[in-house]
Amino acid sequence: MPVATQAGSAGGGEPDLVAGLNRKAWCFWSGIRSVILNDELERLERAEGDAVGALAVCDDIAPKMAFEAPTSERLAELLAALPPERPGSQAVREVKGVGGTSLGGERPKLTVLHRGQLWIAKLQDRGDPPHAPLREYVCMRLAASCGIQAADVDLLRVGEREVVLVRRFDRAVDAHGRTTRRLYASAHTVLRLDAAIRGDRSRSYVALAQALRRWCGKADVDVTAVQRELWRRMVFNAVCGNGDDHPRNHGVLFEDGRWRLADAFDIAPYPTFSGTLAMAVTREGDMTASRANLLKDCELFGYAREEARRHIAQCEAAVTGDWSTVIQDSGYPAGTLAAPDLRWLDEGRPSSHANPL
Ligand SMILES: Nc1ncnc2c1ncn2[C@@H]1O[C@H](COP(=O)(O)OP(=O)(O)O)[C@@H](O)[C@H]1O
Ligand SMILES: [Mg+2]
Repeated sequence: MPVATQAGSAGGGEPDLVAGLNRKAWCFWSGIRSVILNDELERLERAEGDAVGALAVCDDIAPKMAFEAPTSERLAELLAALPPERPGSQAVREVKGVGGTSLGGERPKLTVLHRGQLWIAKLQDRGDPPHAPLREYVCMRLAASCGIQAADVDLLRVGEREVVLVRRFDRAVDAHGRTTRRLYASAHTVLRLDAAIRGDRSRSYVALAQALRRWCGKADVDVTAVQRELWRRMVFNAVCGNGDDHPRNHGVLFEDGRWRLADAFDIAPYPTFSGTLAMAVTREGDMTASRANLLKDCELFGYAREEARRHIAQCEAAVTGDWSTVIQDSGYPAGTLAAPDLRWLDEGRPSSHANPL
């Protein structure tokens, strides 16, 4: 069986395609306990054709090419018909059958056709804190307002249920309904990481900024602009308390002959925040989400101290000031989700912060 590696993964790092298809995910989506595919190649062969990026690993490409996304309206119909005690993931199984999705991550999701393009529909999971899709929607909107190139988001409300829709940056549907794909590599691949090792120096924003110089640097590309964008993402994750900013939640996309940072996605803080990010913020490898750390090596990302200080303050103002406005604009009462209180920014390394609901 010919096996193409994920672009950019040669020489280190687990291919993102395999990562998206872990055994647990397959078992979960299959909905049939006895279907456990231990063989990685078989999982890749049977996986849906909606994996991130432009590469597929298989003998028979036809089923992958035949992938068709259900519409967001169909998903809404199924959710509306679902008895209240059933989790939303049931609707995902009904609409997609055994195959489900080849997208990785933990939360129930599927690719849907929405407003003529492909989006990822992310649903509330059984163990999620209340309004997890709304929280993700609010944070993605606020990230965009803080100068981050974030994927477009939309919110679908079906009775008590909610779904956050995230526009796929690696797919485009043309006027004839044909889908084109773009190559993608996660930061896990870019940084040539293996399994998570605590204290691993290379799980770092500073290291990623350096690697982006190699990946995105071309004569006519302003790499500093890319590095500045990465710094703003790190700052936003620190400000909103998103400790799930691990290297598979960042990536690069191949477009117009060059690699660039893929749109930001999965900015979805948990209600409690430990005060540390999943990647190091400083050259020394400190992951603490403090103002001092965010400023410490800002020059390495192309930010002067004063400008960086101002930007952090603007992010704080946006997160605290616009939080309830975005919630209300979405049709919810302002107090549905309380804004993060940002104490961790100036308190050093706290044990745990309630990022209240
Ligand atoms: N907007 C997007 N376009 C294309 N691929 C995406 C997009 N958002 C996420 N992905 C891919 O899907 C995976 C799972 O999505 P993510 O939002 O991280 O879900 P989870 O909350 O379950 O971690 C990501 O790791 C990434 O590879
Ligand atoms: Mg994720």
